[in-house]
Amino acid sequence: MAGRLDGKVAIVTGGGAGIGRKFCVGLASEGARVVVADVGDVSGTLAEVDAARGTATGVRADVSDPADVARLVRHALDTCGRVDVLVNNAGIYPTRPIEQMSLEEWRKVMAVNLDGVFLCAKEVIPHMKRQGGGRIVNMSSTTFFMGVPNFCHYVASKGGVVGFTRGLAGEVGEFGITVNCIAPGLTKTDSVEASPVIRETWQMLVDAQAIHRKQVPDDLLGPLLFLASDDSAFVTGQTLCVDGGWTRH
Ligand SMILES: NC(=O)c1ccc[n+]([C@@H]2O[C@H](COP(=O)([O-])OP(=O)(O)OC[C@H]3O[C@@H](n4cnc5c(N)ncnc54)[C@H](O)[C@@H]3O)[C@@H](O)[C@H]2O)c1
Repeated sequence: MAGRLDGKVAIVTGGGAGIGRKFCVGLASEGARVVVADVGDVSGTLAEVDAARGTATGVRADVSDPADVARLVRHALDTCGRVDVLVNNAGIYPTRPIEQMSLEEWRKVMAVNLDGVFLCAKEVIPHMKRQGGGRIVNMSSTTFFMGVPNFCHYVASKGGVVGFTRGLAGEVGEFGITVNCIAPGLTKTDSVEASPVIRETWQMLVDAQAIHRKQVPDDLLGPLLFLASDDSAFVTGQTLCVDGGWTRH
């Protein structure tokens, strides 16, 4: 059966774990050749893609490092010949009240969550223009809309991602490139489960959602495939909250 992304090449940053891993497997299952980029180990993701009879290649790259990002895109072009989809998923979310937050930690969060989105988009856009189009999907967070306390660097960075998405969408639409955001609610990943502060608030969030269960990475896959495929060709500059209705108020 034909996949929605047959013949396409997709880069997923932070594809080694969590939501990014789910995205890699889902994109590959729809026929895309996937380039899995991560500062960490990508072997688990490559094995899952393989088990799903998909095609993927891995690159170790830090999205906040311009040289790494250039190398990542070069790798995609050398191995797959093109770049059709960029999923800017790599992100970090340390929790800390502002009075205990160092400038160094603030800058690190901005570097990965916001500079990384800028650097990866900047690097793929000339190729997407040359190819006549492309899809960029950025990961924001509902914490931006809800003003969640104790990680204002994270909330600021994810608000920046929404702004970047809107600005860039206006700039590259004429080249057939769409730029959109997914803003997930709290989603069950190993990193979330490792954070006692986040874990503590979980039941409160589930109660506040319209759909009263914990969100899982699978809940984000349909929206990602929509925004990564031709199904969303006339949708750009948008942020889709996928959160069981938490931000409905
Ligand atoms: N899980 C949630 O509740 C939630 C909610 C809203 C938004 N998000 C966003 O979704 C994205 C994925 O979240 P997750 O929970 O799957 O995270 P995760 O920690 O499970 O996975 C993130 C991956 O990104 C990689 N990474 C970290 N820094 C990197 C860098 N500098 N360069 C390249 N790769 C890097 C990590 O090694 C890891 O494999 C993030 O942008 C996060 O902010 C997550």
